[in-house]
Amino acid sequence: MHQVEHPAVVKSAYVKGMWVHAAGKLKRKLLGFRKNYVAPLDLSRVGYDFNVVDAWLNNYGAFTGESITGKTVLELGPGSNLGTGLILLSRGAKKYLAIDVFDSVQYTQEVFYDHLFERLGCDALRAELAHQYEPDGRIHYMVDPQFRIERIDEPVDVIFSHSAFEHFDDVAEVIRQITAISAPGTTIISRVDLQTHELGVRDCDPLNIYRYSDTLWRWLGDKGAPNRTRTPEYQRILEDHGWEAEIEPVRTLTREYVDKMLPGLIRRYQNFGTEEMGILGFFMRATKK
Ligand SMILES: C[S@@+](CC[C@H](N)C(=O)[O-])C[C@H]1O[C@@H](n2cnc3c(N)ncnc32)[C@H](O)[C@@H]1O
Repeated sequence: MHQVEHPAVVKSAYVKGMWVHAAGKLKRKLLGFRKNYVAPLDLSRVGYDFNVVDAWLNNYGAFTGESITGKTVLELGPGSNLGTGLILLSRGAKKYLAIDVFDSVQYTQEVFYDHLFERLGCDALRAELAHQYEPDGRIHYMVDPQFRIERIDEPVDVIFSHSAFEHFDDVAEVIRQITAISAPGTTIISRVDLQTHELGVRDCDPLNIYRYSDTLWRWLGDKGAPNRTRTPEYQRILEDHGWEAEIEPVRTLTREYVDKMLPGLIRRYQNFGTEEMGILGFFMRATKK
């Protein structure tokens, strides 16, 4: 687990954050949401995708004792490219499905995949990208502004996600729909970030998003703004839908820092207490009973 260095305490964090969130919303309105997720020439994303898949597979192996060989996998919110899917297929997965509300993948430049295939040492999977929007190949990328996961009508063995759950409009609804397409034994492996995302406040006030009332947060946020769902809520929702779930914090703040910040958060987050509010990121692993 990684413990984050004690950030300096910011003066007027409430007001500062409010301006930063409002400016972020305005920027997204003017530029369009997709630009926040599209970085086609950022080749460091190739290494990022390998790291994401390694973390998923380590978690999956340790949790289930199985490999993904021959499995059908689904990724929720793949973001700006299908690199994770290609890597999973190269590691033995039978089929890769992905669903997103935005079609950011359409902007991925060929040079990104050139580098990815070079690192894989083989480009046999390149042909799969040519029909990525169609259901019959080994890659099927679905774009649905309503995020209707329950439309997926083929059996899925593993559901992966990375830094996406915190953006979903309604975590309980997503888990309800995942449950609808899952059979006993289906596994969820997801990394979830709970830290403030906006650059102007994320490092100096990592718990900033928990300072605002629901009404103000709805006003400050837009589609994709962090939903502020905390780990006990994930655990409860998963259990209510028949999943055996475990949560492992992977990034935390010091107790000393969180104790100082708690009085500035709204009552609901104060009530979660120091230990929970110190979690900035976690891995969620669950199996359908
Ligand atoms: C921060 S990106 C993460 C992308 C990628 N998994 C990664 O690790 O870089 C968040 C992902 O969630 C998706 N997303 C944002 N808002 C969403 C929403 N309301 N419902 C479903 N997906 C959403 C975005 O399109 C994007 O794919």
